[in-house]
Amino acid sequence: MNTSGRKPPRARRPCFSIALASGKGGVGKTTIAANLAMALAGFGTRVTLVDGDLSLANLDVLLGVIPERTIEHWFFGDATLDEIVVEGPRGVRVVAAGSGLQELTQLPEAAFDRLFDALACLEDPSDVLIFDNAAGIGTQVSEIAARSSRALLVTWPEPAALVDAYAALKVLARRKPELPVGLLVNGARSEQEARRVHHRLSTASERFLGRRLGLDGWVPDDRAVREAAIDQRPVLLAEPMAPSSRQIELLATHFLHYVGRPWGAAVGERWSEGTRTGEIVH
Ligand SMILES: Nc1ncnc2c1ncn2[C@@H]1O[C@H](COP(=O)(O)OP(=O)(O)O)[C@@H](O)[C@H]1O
Ligand SMILES: [Mg+2]
Repeated sequence: MNTSGRKPPRARRPCFSIALASGKGGVGKTTIAANLAMALAGFGTRVTLVDGDLSLANLDVLLGVIPERTIEHWFFGDATLDEIVVEGPRGVRVVAAGSGLQELTQLPEAAFDRLFDALACLEDPSDVLIFDNAAGIGTQVSEIAARSSRALLVTWPEPAALVDAYAALKVLARRKPELPVGLLVNGARSEQEARRVHHRLSTASERFLGRRLGLDGWVPDDRAVREAAIDQRPVLLAEPMAPSSRQIELLATHFLHYVGRPWGAAVGERWSEGTRTGEIVH
């Protein structure tokens, strides 16, 4: 397999990158990735959204874009990334994934280095790269997260999702102990519930993994999200005043502090026991 693309990879400029991750599937990673991209683009940030879920790719469907080619074509050397990128709403660049070829679930580590180099060499540079990912922390997810500035761990408040989120956090911490990881509680009924969920996970994280887990944000369980998804539109565009849209904008505001800081530290963040201490800012 030729995984090099056509141009010799040469990183042009580092940009801030966020890898979404979760334990359980269906907790809202794709929804958050797409809407976070819209919100950041709305603040004038140049965003590239990459579908790293090579087995169940659906970012393109949620955004209503129809890619002619997907990341598989790049992995097999049949297209450059610039030929694959499609423009989504608000000018967000989308690198879609395709049908889930078995070979792509067993990529060598070097393939991920080449992917990040190629993303840094896109003709139109980005300020932020957002990776949607598969559920669980398989090789693909951990290799993408390990090369990102930061991981955003998404969970639903239910206990089963929390157990899986903790397991995912453990794998991430083992793969790259210094990777900053923040929590996003999706589907919460209130801010109090989101904070309770965060408290449970961060307590376990501190006690058993020896690292703090900041709360990057929370998004309510909102029917507007599902209705927008049926129309293949991010809720932030379909219903900008919906409670979920407002919370995703706050999440984007939080990440604006990192733009231009590819190492994943926000202004004013402190080191704590070798781990970044991302704290919710709203
Ligand atoms: N905050 C929310 N409120 C209501 N429904 C949501 C919310 N977030 C996600 N959903 C719905 O949950 C389902 C799974 O979301 P999705 O983003 O595909 O999850 P994942 O990518 O983690 O598998 C979708 O039907 C989506 O519309
Ligand atoms: Mg998904």
